[in-house]
Amino acid sequence: PERTLVLVKPDGVRRGLSGEILRRIEAKGYTLTAVELKNATPEVLAAHYAEHEGKPFYAPLVEFMLSGPVLAVVAEGQGVIAGFRSLAGATDPTAALPGTIRGDLGRDWGLKVQQNLVHGSDSVESAEREIGLWFPAL
Ligand code: GTP
Ligand code: MG
Repeated sequence: PERTLVLVKPDGVRRGLSGEILRRIEAKGYTLTAVELKNATPEVLAAHYAEHEGKPFYAPLVEFMLSGPVLAVVAEGQGVIAGFRSLAGATDPTAALPGTIRGDLGRDWGLKVQQNLVHGSDSVESAEREIGLWFPAL
């Protein structure tokens, strides 16, 4: 079955939104097959965000992702990759529509990086690559 990697980013964990975010994934009908609170490492983040290296927000993004624990999640179900991105909403939490995780729970905090609560893989290839990075045993 199709799988995706979801991360509740450090802002979501700090604000106590992990349960609410997991609730939305389960309420949609997807299955949680792995859930683990982890501290990211520079090595994992370099691989995870390789496509963004060199962009102006890259350094603040990595620093933010190291600012506290993240909840790493593998969710499973037909269409889960696109389905979770639809649940998450637009990257910019100010623009994200109400009804979405970022639209309902996120806002602009005036910081250098968009603190937008969650990450979700964007293709089958990135999902399998990212699951291997965050859950080497899976
Ligand atoms: P993810 O699910 O986290 O990958 O979000 P995404 O796919 O909607 O965004 P993308 O992969 O393009 O960017 C990864 C992360 O970098 C985003 O979630 C933001 O935290 C941050 N980011 C992306 N674009 C910008 C930007 O233009 N400005 C700033 N400040 N941060 C950005
Ligand atoms: Mg992305």
